[in-house]
Amino acid sequence: MSQAAPVRALRGRLLSFKADPAEVGAEASCDYHEDGVLVLAEGRIAAAGPADLLLPTLPADTPIDHWPRCLILPGLIDLHIHYPQTQVIGSYGARLLDWLQTYTFVEEQKFKSADHAAAIARFFLAELLRNGTTTAVVYCTVHPESAEAFFAESERQGTLMIAGKVMMDRGAPQGLLDTAEAGYRDSKALLARWHGRGRQLYAVTPRFALTSSEAQLAAAGALLAEHPDAYLQTHLCETPEEIAAVRALFPADASYTGVYARHGLLGPRSLLGHCIHLAPEERALMSDSGSVAVFCPTSNLFLGSGLFDRDGLRDPGCPVRTGLATDVGGGTSYSMLRTLAEAYKVLQLRRQKLPALDAFHLITRGNAEALGLVDRIGTLEPGSDADLVVLDATAVPAMAHRMATIGSLAEELFLLMTMGDDRAVRATYVAGERTLPQDEPMQDAAQALY
Ligand code: GUN
Ligand code: ZN
Repeated sequence: MSQAAPVRALRGRLLSFKADPAEVGAEASCDYHEDGVLVLAEGRIAAAGPADLLLPTLPADTPIDHWPRCLILPGLIDLHIHYPQTQVIGSYGARLLDWLQTYTFVEEQKFKSADHAAAIARFFLAELLRNGTTTAVVYCTVHPESAEAFFAESERQGTLMIAGKVMMDRGAPQGLLDTAEAGYRDSKALLARWHGRGRQLYAVTPRFALTSSEAQLAAAGALLAEHPDAYLQTHLCETPEEIAAVRALFPADASYTGVYARHGLLGPRSLLGHCIHLAPEERALMSDSGSVAVFCPTSNLFLGSGLFDRDGLRDPGCPVRTGLATDVGGGTSYSMLRTLAEAYKVLQLRRQKLPALDAFHLITRGNAEALGLVDRIGTLEPGSDADLVVLDATAVPAMAHRMATIGSLAEELFLLMTMGDDRAVRATYVAGERTLPQDEPMQDAAQALY
């Protein structure tokens, strides 16, 4: 990456994490430049540092997007979201199992149509970007067309997305079922076509133990064993009713997590949504395999599923890797800022803490580490992909009013995660390009500044 021919630079307040504040302390965890510059070239970050050092190194005509007062962070990462549920979000009054049958399985049948899938994928990706999310781990539906449409749109947008066709061969209407063989064959073909093509990555996606037969779980495990660099995503221990139903379907297994372990579905690239009600031996299976437990607070509150035990899972005696996600449409917001607000409240009810720096580490570097992608996304390190979000803590009057009494970066971040949403996202950049017509930056040129 040469600094000789940058396509553009960004100027603002740069914030990026080097390590987990919970482990190394707030000071040592982050790089912060009050007046910083990011130099972008060929879709990547070529340099990051203080403006007074970097600006004089730039050719005089370098265009600079200047975001005074705004924070520039790595693009936000959502570890679990369902793109076919954009018209399920906000469905009234159900818990998980009846919510699936009453609303979700009805809506997901529409994705048999490639046109419908393409239209929803377009809306969905635009909505993610409007909220500052540049990478997500995404469930499609059982229809291969749904995954094809999603990846095609992500490729068009240039986003780094991880997605998979759902595998489900029982427990749902006929129109949503594949078979063990077809699920394996279609998933394998999609994986061969999309995993590692440009920025797209594939996740083998058995929906959960209640909608896959023994044969299908075995097929998912076989596919994963054939492609150890692919991801695995599924749901685990979200509600007591679900756990009881799994026990009835798999009476020989000691636990729900044990069902997945027996089929080879756990491992460092396995993302298990929810993990609210794990018994100690299930935590041990998660910990030993390096699997990731994904906290989805807006969903857990909306569906009444329970309160995620983040500190319990992170217990050094049996540490489970954790991440954060929206889980739209069980989740109620596309915004990772709103998701942090609800995470904070869930943890308050558990008498657990989520300091602001830990929170912003979590939705950037933390989630990138959960994906094993920290060398590509989640930081502002030179060499990283230039996926960026520009946040403004004065975006709405009530926030601007509160900002007047705020005196530290940590307080500002806490305001952003408590009151912020899509309105606090002034701009989103994907691979160095500004995406939607959000707000206009001030346009400077290096020459004008020196
Ligand atoms: N468990 C199985 N499918 C789903 C889903 O679509 N959403 C949630 N929240 N849980 C699930
Ligand atoms: Zn989910």
